[in-house]
Amino acid sequence: MTREIRLNAFDMACVGHIQHGMWTHPRDRSADYTSIDYWMDMARTLERGLFDGLFLADVVGVYDVLGGSPDAAIRNAVQIPLLDPLLLVPAMAAVTRHLGFGVTCNLTYEAPYLFARRMGTLDHLTRGRIGWNIVTGYLDSAARAMGLEKQLQHDDRYDAAEAFMQTVYGLWEGGWADDAVVRDRAAGVYADPARVRGIEGRGPHLVEPSPQRTPVLYQAGASDRGRAFAARHAECVFVNAGRPADVARLVADLRARAAPRPIRVFAGATLVVGRTEAEAQDLLAEYRSHASVEGALAHAAASLGIDFDRFGMDEPIAVAATDAISSNVEAMRRVFGPGWTKRQMIDQFILGSRQRPITGSAEQVAQALIDFAEAADVDGFNLSRTVMPEGLEAVVDLVVPLLQERGAYKRDYAPGTYREKLFGAGPRLAAPHPAAAVRQ
Ligand SMILES: Cc1cc2nc3c(=O)[nH]c(=O)nc-3n(C[C@H](O)[C@H](O)[C@H](O)COP(=O)(O)O)c2cc1C
Repeated sequence: MTREIRLNAFDMACVGHIQHGMWTHPRDRSADYTSIDYWMDMARTLERGLFDGLFLADVVGVYDVLGGSPDAAIRNAVQIPLLDPLLLVPAMAAVTRHLGFGVTCNLTYEAPYLFARRMGTLDHLTRGRIGWNIVTGYLDSAARAMGLEKQLQHDDRYDAAEAFMQTVYGLWEGGWADDAVVRDRAAGVYADPARVRGIEGRGPHLVEPSPQRTPVLYQAGASDRGRAFAARHAECVFVNAGRPADVARLVADLRARAAPRPIRVFAGATLVVGRTEAEAQDLLAEYRSHASVEGALAHAAASLGIDFDRFGMDEPIAVAATDAISSNVEAMRRVFGPGWTKRQMIDQFILGSRQRPITGSAEQVAQALIDFAEAADVDGFNLSRTVMPEGLEAVVDLVVPLLQERGAYKRDYAPGTYREKLFGAGPRLAAPHPAAAVRQ
């Protein structure tokens, strides 16, 4: 049987997300990101394509590692300017019924009590379609923006995350018993105070029980500590694309560590789809002429924690561990060897990032997704945008019907909350997940 493939759109509340420079394409609408209609239109298109979710990335801080300055990022709109992703969700939820929303929030700079309320609010307003991508950040610029000197070290960030999770589980799961809200008009009792409790000296969670309580939990760390954290907490894991065998090894490790809990794994991908192969190659060439090397370099510098301005084109980039996304640095070493160079990396920038597009006719792209999912043992893909909205519409109108024909894609949404649609079980986290252990 062909495995079912799930699709998320991978986006961000900004102009340049992954493929930098696409905004300069005359048909691209990503610079309309400040318009609520832009997001509502996108949500409708995603639901038409039966996408599981819209995964929204986020960063706190600017990309100022390249040349020690944010200029290249600002010039090229590399994740700046950037809106608050959570605030986009209610408008998109209002025009959809099934689409899930996986929103990235950096817990390092969140107060758990307020954060738990925002997520609880969104779980109500979306009727149980909210998810949270748990991140701790990788930018010193974020720490400085928040009044600190620098960010915590890589592994310490995961320790802080562990403590944060215990607190928010306590609020979401432990605060209100299922039967705490009685709404007894005759007795004049809205909720039974005996069934509502605080945790860790805090007053009770402010939000009454929502459909999922804890949002669907995403995580994307791939280092050893990152995997251990994902195995304990994540329901969905987002992994970078790479050679299928490399991804398969990572996925096997994640699944083994998380067992017996199932996890859904989504690989990053960028698609350039035409009605024919020739049309797709023409589109790729057209898009490529708008790609920004400087933007891609600014992004890579910040996420790898390496100032590429300090290296010549052919000078080996011999850096030890950095405090940014260490798994990305390891991936560069794996692909190019220990003495990899800036030139090798720039040669990989096809559309304005290190993520190489899968290009072809709809048939070719559909088959490539099916083959990759099988070889890498992933459940689906987080699709980065190219030129919007045409790149997304091509996936929905050309690729999705073929995946359906091949038995690799749903023909309708499953009922229920985001968690129910993803796992087919109940709306709430179950044992052995640590959130279930603190339930009242
Ligand atoms: C595919 C992918 C997507 C990510 N998206 C974000 C993001 O939107 N915001 C963020 O702050 N960190 C993001 N990260 C960073 C991770 O959350 C994590 O901080 C980082 O990978 C460092 O942990 P690691 O060394 O364990 O991988 C992403 C990482 C990966 C691999």
